Amino acid sequence: MEYNQDTLRDSFGRLITYLRLSITDRCNLRCFYCMPQADFNWMPPRKILRFEEIVQLTRVLAKLGVKKVRFTGGEPLVRKDVVKLVADVNGLDGIKETCLTTNGVLLRSLASELFNAGLRHLNISLDTLRAKRFEQITGRDFFHQVWEGIEKSLELGFSPVKINFVMMRGKNDDEVVDFARLAQRFDLEVRFIEFMPIGKHSKWGKQHFLSSDEAKSLIEQELGRLVPVRREDDAGPADMYSLHGSAGKVGFISPLSHRFCSSCNRLRVTADGRVRLCLFSDLEFELRDLLRKGISDSHLSHFFSEIILRKPARYLTAKKKDVPSCDRQMSSIGG
Ligand code: GTP
Ligand code: 5AD
Ligand code: SF4
Repeated sequence: MEYNQDTLRDSFGRLITYLRLSITDRCNLRCFYCMPQADFNWMPPRKILRFEEIVQLTRVLAKLGVKKVRFTGGEPLVRKDVVKLVADVNGLDGIKETCLTTNGVLLRSLASELFNAGLRHLNISLDTLRAKRFEQITGRDFFHQVWEGIEKSLELGFSPVKINFVMMRGKNDDEVVDFARLAQRFDLEVRFIEFMPIGKHSKWGKQHFLSSDEAKSLIEQELGRLVPVRREDDAGPADMYSLHGSAGKVGFISPLSHRFCSSCNRLRVTADGRVRLCLFSDLEFELRDLLRKGISDSHLSHFFSEIILRKPARYLTAKKKDVPSCDRQMSSIGG
């Protein structure tokens, strides 16, 4: 197939404008569902993409029409040069928005610097409002620190600030309504995310799955009608709603019950420099070696334009009724 030199379009006509960059696989939490509890090793530093490598690949993708870059991890804020990275990527021609998905532990101390680096869009993962339960889920007693980070982000004027709540039956389903109340009180987008089976050692199980529809009805029973909010054309995967009298909004990300592949506009690069075309597909393309061998921008551009044609139309499952899954763990894809 022919490709256009200024845009990245896959073979199903989808324009790729959003890059999700995992900049480290390290993390200061140990969420039970994200990484294996035993036999776990961080990637050696030499395998992680370097600063200049990240800037080059992003510069080339920006020339191909990528406008939005999200930094993920592991936990992106544990990477030492993260603030400079945000500033440099923000300054690239064509990049309209840089975003960060964080567990919030280091936000209290880094929020101001990130704001000054030009970051405005913050997504913070938080699966409970109860300090004891936070420790059970994440293995660390950092709930209050995360909450202070959220308050500080709102004070500083980050916008949007989104809270990512992964719904797990039997673990935190009794907090769905409390999280919706957060969106009534604060100017936050609270997003309810269906638990997905990611990684060879995933703790996912049907018994822990709670669908967005179930969460919606729990919320409506307590707080009244959820009113749909009109979606922008390039909106993310969440379906957004408002509640009567609320400062913020609630959203539902439903990859398993209502897949959103037909509007997929994203490309992922893992911490060790491999391109993934779909969250659930372990088909990966080696990028780090190319960057380390000094590939030119024009060859790199050609590389992306070629591989994007292999992006699947939708995630694939072995049998029609199966749930999708992948081998690589969440901590090196970044969601
Ligand atoms: P916004 O740009 O703020 O809409 O963020 P986002 O939802 O793209 O990013 P975030 O890192 O906050 O991801 C929220 C949740 O959505 C995570 O659980 C991700 O794994 C999931 N998610 C994001 N993109 C995709 C996708 O393309 N496919 C699937 N299946 N899940 C996704
Ligand atoms: N299913 C759904 N969401 C997940 N996240 C991490 N693991 C899973 C999973 N198995 C979320 C995190 C974070 C985002 C990057 O992905 O909570 O907010
Ligand atoms: Fe895109 Fe794959 Fe997610 Fe579907 S599952 S939306 S194709 S990344």
